[in-house]
Amino acid sequence: MSLSIKDILQQKPVGTTHEVKGWVRTFRSNRFIALSDGSTIKTLQLVVDFEQLDEATLKKVATGAAIIASGDLVSSQGKGQDIEMLVSKLEVVGESNPEEYPLQPKKHSLEFLRDIAHLRMRTNTFGAIMRVRHHLAFAVHEYFHKRQFFYLHTPIITGSDAEGAGEMFNVSILDKKNPPLTEDGQIDYSKDFFEKETNLTVSGQLEAELGAMALSKVYTFGPTFRAENSNTSRHLAEFWMIEPEVAFADLNDNMDLAEDFLKYVISSTLNHCVDDLEFLEKRLLDEEKSKPEKDRSPRPLREKLQFVAENNFRRVSYTEAIDILRNSKPNKKKRFKYIIDEWGADLQSEHEKYLVQHFNAPVILFDYPAKIKAFYMRLNEDEKTVRAMDILFPGIGEIVGGSQREERHDVLLGKMNDFGIDSKELQWYLDTRKFGSCVHSGFGLGFERLVLFVSGMTNIRDVIPFPRTPGNAEF
Ligand code: 4AD
Ligand code: MG
Repeated sequence: MSLSIKDILQQKPVGTTHEVKGWVRTFRSNRFIALSDGSTIKTLQLVVDFEQLDEATLKKVATGAAIIASGDLVSSQGKGQDIEMLVSKLEVVGESNPEEYPLQPKKHSLEFLRDIAHLRMRTNTFGAIMRVRHHLAFAVHEYFHKRQFFYLHTPIITGSDAEGAGEMFNVSILDKKNPPLTEDGQIDYSKDFFEKETNLTVSGQLEAELGAMALSKVYTFGPTFRAENSNTSRHLAEFWMIEPEVAFADLNDNMDLAEDFLKYVISSTLNHCVDDLEFLEKRLLDEEKSKPEKDRSPRPLREKLQFVAENNFRRVSYTEAIDILRNSKPNKKKRFKYIIDEWGADLQSEHEKYLVQHFNAPVILFDYPAKIKAFYMRLNEDEKTVRAMDILFPGIGEIVGGSQREERHDVLLGKMNDFGIDSKELQWYLDTRKFGSCVHSGFGLGFERLVLFVSGMTNIRDVIPFPRTPGNAEF
């Protein structure tokens, strides 16, 4: 019978015989193999029984090699493990040249590991991150499923720019060297595959709204693409977004949902990823030792997660936030790169981080100026602000962006015209405001920013298996 290493370490079936399969982490004293199969951060100690195994096989046991081993599970004599396997049969199914193997039993920099993304998941750090990432994704589906939300698959190829920021990747099969042209010299997309210009989606929201107008509560969880040239530790060109959309829900309901949802997925991961979070917490403490005191996290990783899961987020209007920022020390002393002097200014990540520190809690900012937010947000009675909300997290800044949607047909049409959005292109979207429109709201959570927060990593490239960033689409 084949058990995972996680099962063996949990069940401790001493006195039984089993087969295990995995990759050699280390091979010590020609006798002790630390075996990993990725099911847990822990390794199983295999003790080689010399009488049963031949020299030739043992020679092939090397760091990185794939092996299948079987033997009796016994209580361990040594320190560091309760149980180990006395190996009576061993097969090296995939050899590895230890001299060439890029992962040596020493500390590698995260930058180096990014260059070997095809192997980095075999390290403790990336194994832990991938398991935590998996659990978070699972908890997302669990949360919505339990609350009668339906998982809606929105398209990846679209003809519309939901956020209106024009940061899209074009999808075309036209001949790049010799594209068909219209009379006025533009590329003639009517000759393209879809007979119109298409792009990779920046958000599933507009389609999710159509789902909510029929199924009441839906969510999307899919890849989204942004061709913004921001080489930061918070941006990816390809990232995963979770976008719930709820009919008959206003901005307050939306804030309640987002807060409850974030607390749920974080608590669930705290409860289920104990070993991985313990490891990541130690890794972070280690990494921060070399940083100046002021740049270190105020709390250990798990305490930080617990804090967010148990305390109320602070809800603050944009106007209030601007007052706080205007009167803040870094603003007065001109330490912000972007000085805040007027109502209407867009907030930069330095401001978002300041606000989170100021309140010492996650912050939900709401009622932003209409001018700095997308066209679909519900206009307030003051006609200056919209019912937008952003959630700001410690060390991350914006993790969620959402709003109540403009449900009034004519106001929405007016907004589209103001923003220069082709209303004919979005006629299907406008139609929902003609046939049974209602108050509705939703938000988008950047999944990698959540994984970044929960894992305590500092660069978003390290929380997705194969990052896509400007100049990088390797693997
Ligand atoms: O604030 P954004 O642009 O909002 C939307 O796309 C809305 N349509 C969501 C909605 O209301 N349904 O993006 C939402 C979140 C951000 O708060 C951020 O966490 C993440 O997506 N995000 C990115 N994550 C990684 N790399 C990028 N380039 C990101 N851009 C946005
Ligand atoms: Mg946003």
